[in-house]
Order: sequence, then structure tokens, then C-alpha cells
Amino acid sequence: MTGTSAAAEDPRSLSRTRVFVVGSGLMGSGIAAQCAVAGYFVTLEDLSEELLRKGELHLRRALEGEVRRGRLTPTDVSAALGRIATAIGLRRADAAGIVIEAVPEQLELKRALFRELEAVASPQALLVSNTSSLPITALGQGLADPGRLVGIHFFNPVLSMELVEIIPGHRTRPESLERAREFARSLGKTVVASRDSPGFVTSRAVAVLLNEAVWMLYEGVATREDIDTAYTKGFHHPMGPLALLDLIGLDTALAILDVLWDRFHDPKYRACPLLRTMVEAGALGRKSGEGFYAYPPAADAPGGPKAPP
Ligand SMILES: NC(=O)c1ccc[n+]([C@@H]2O[C@H](COP(=O)([O-])OP(=O)(O)OC[C@H]3O[C@@H](n4cnc5c(N)ncnc54)[C@H](O)[C@@H]3O)[C@@H](O)[C@H]2O)c1
Repeated sequence: MTGTSAAAEDPRSLSRTRVFVVGSGLMGSGIAAQCAVAGYFVTLEDLSEELLRKGELHLRRALEGEVRRGRLTPTDVSAALGRIATAIGLRRADAAGIVIEAVPEQLELKRALFRELEAVASPQALLVSNTSSLPITALGQGLADPGRLVGIHFFNPVLSMELVEIIPGHRTRPESLERAREFARSLGKTVVASRDSPGFVTSRAVAVLLNEAVWMLYEGVATREDIDTAYTKGFHHPMGPLALLDLIGLDTALAILDVLWDRFHDPKYRACPLLRTMVEAGALGRKSGEGFYAYPPAADAPGGPKAPP
């Protein structure tokens, strides 16, 4: 990675090959890694150096995991890292052909961010939201040109999950949608299309399943281990719902349920009080070190145990 300076300039690079990613959390760092592996020059942005360091660590771990699985070579990883720069502030979005936001699932935050991005980004740039549930039309409210805004919903972990959902807002132009499809395919993803309906196809389906598991834990139907084992051994799910909630982030899962409840007013989307309490207590899952399970900090994590000198 090239710190807060620009990535090594490549004379062949055009603005279409440059991606600017806002938010270096779980998803932003994964999206940045995926784009760099596919040959894009990426700038990953967040609010502070500390947050960027966390994102960078996550990104490196994700890439190293791909080497262990035999899907990338160490040379691929160092080439990808050489294509990623970091930044604080949106200024460098001006050079990107594609600008992707991956900030927390809050309507006003994302809306305000797109307004700022519209002022900085090239008028030709495609604006992309990685929202899990918020209507793209609502995110584009207040933009001078909502026709270039589109939803590309990536999955976690980005490097190993094949699917993306593509969602046009009410005003998204067909050529923006086509560019989003082309971009997703260039990352090697399988694309499904969804109408601009809250939660799209995937989040709407999985939110109910995950919430039900929390309700069962809350009601004392079974232990967390037995609930998770029931799903992995009974349904061949790769991980149980409580472990999956820890991976997704309990704050993100709660935000999705709240969007679904707010938009549909159907009681099936009412978040279990236990989920809300845990979020209020800061037990957000893996990213905070504690959720339904505990995650001791890795030795190389910022703030984690340090190796003896
Ligand atoms: N976690 C998942 O499994 C998952 C999957 C698909 C989509 N999503 C969606 O992706 C988005 C991000 O989720 P996440 O899990 O990566 O969250 P996260 O909490 O891990 O990361 C969010 C990052 O955004 C940064 N941020 C906040 N405000 C910012 C601002 N104004 N400018 C720049 N950076 C800012 C935070 O510092 C943080 O690093 C959400 O919309 C979420 O719904 C999440």
C-alpha cells in the first residue's frame, strides 16, 4: 500500500480504471482489495489514520487468506497492494471513474456523503452505494444528477463471495446500470438484479432468518451453540446465524431490520430487543471483539496484544 500518497502512477491508467472507496471498514476494505486484484487503481478513504490502519490490516488478511486457499499468488498480492492508496477526505475522488461508498447503514449519512461526492467527483464518474437495504432512490434525493447513482451490493467477505446484487434507483440511467454490470463482471462477480425495494432480495431474506435466531436465543429455546449447530448440521449452512451476525456486524444487521420495519411496517421485521441491547452495549460482533461469541484481539491488530520486543 502506498500510504496517504497517490498509488504508483501508471501511464495507461484512465479515470475508468480508478476507483475511490469511501469507508475502510469490513466492506470498504474488501471492495478495495477486490478491485485492486482485478487491476483497478484504488484509493481507500476513511476519517482517520487509525481507521485506515484497521482497514489496511483487514485488507491484507483477506488477501493473504486467498493465497492460503490457492486462489492468489504472493506476487498477485503484492501487485494488488501496490495499486491501493489511502486517503483522508474526499478530494481525491476527482480522479476516479467509479466512486463507491461503504459507510454505515444510515440514510442521512449516505445521502449527505453523495451530495459531497457529487461536488468533487468527475461528472462522468459512476456513483455506487454498497447499501444492504436502503432504497437507492432515497440515497439519490438531493443529487443534481441521480441518473448516475446505482446500488452494487457486495457480500462479506468480498474476495470470496461470488454474488453482487445490482439495484437501479428510480432515476438511474440505463447506461449507468450497464456500467455497473460491466464493472461487477470485471471483478469476476455473478450479478443478480433487484428492483429498488428495501433490503433487495438477499438482505430481506436473510434479515428474517438471523432475527429469528436471536429471538430463539432471547426466549431460551436453545443455547447459542445449539442454535448455530442446528443450522450448520441441519441445513448445511456454512455457519450458524449467530456466528454470521458476528461476522456481518450486529449494528449493520440491526440497521437493516430497522430499514425493513420502517419501510414495510410488517411485524416480521421487528428486531429482537436482545439485538438492540447488544448494539447499545457496543457488542457489535467480530469488529468490536465481542458479539454472540468473544473474539480476542489478534496480536497484530491495532490496539491488540504486542509481541515482546
Ligand atoms: N457487514 C456486512 O456483512 C455487509 C455486507 C454487505 C453490505 N454492507 C453494507 O456496507 C456498508 C458498510 O458496512 P461495513 O460492515 O463495512 O461497516 P463498518 O462499520 O465495518 O465500516 C464502516 C466504515 O465507514 C467509515 N465511515 C463512517 N463515516 C464515514 C465518512 N463520513 N467518511 C468516510 N468513512 C466513514 C467508518 O469509520 C468505518 O471504517 C453498510 O451500508 C452496510 O449495510 C455490509
